[in-house]
Amino acid sequence: MELRKYPDPVLLKRAAPVTDFDDALRAQVAQMWDIMYASEGVGLAAPQVGWSVQLLILNPSGSADDASEAMVVINPRLVKKWGRDRHSEGCLSFPDIYVDVTRPKGVRLHWHDEHGVEHEEDFDDFRARILQHEMDHLEGVLLVHRMSPVDKIRYRHELGELRAIFADAAAS
Ligand code: CO
Repeated sequence: MELRKYPDPVLLKRAAPVTDFDDALRAQVAQMWDIMYASEGVGLAAPQVGWSVQLLILNPSGSADDASEAMVVINPRLVKKWGRDRHSEGCLSFPDIYVDVTRPKGVRLHWHDEHGVEHEEDFDDFRARILQHEMDHLEGVLLVHRMSPVDKIRYRHELGELRAIFADAAAS
């Protein structure tokens, strides 16, 4: 399992729902936590490690030592959204690129955890933003799709570099 970066095609696919909440799934999730913390991220969606399922992890502290708000979110669905907020977002699949994205400020989320237990809870601000960013990944929606025309010009070099790196890796 390794971190996939833009423009890896797995990032553009709609992920399939999880049906088996078994030990194999939990072992994959454990690997995702290792990758997320090693990459200094606060969230990671399964497609970002080449696993095209409706699963994401997040920890707003970004630290394994403070996992009080860490979550494994499977087959998520937004029941309700409210407010509006504009904030800068980064993405482990787009190193060194930061984009201002407008999103609802809060969401009511329905999801399953890694044991298959259902949950429903409200989230605001940072956790709501991470959740919505990672849920975009499950639909194949990426930071590049959220960019304004000005952002695309600003990051033309970085995006071109990522495409070149991917093409080189694919050719070797
Ligand atoms: Co991302």
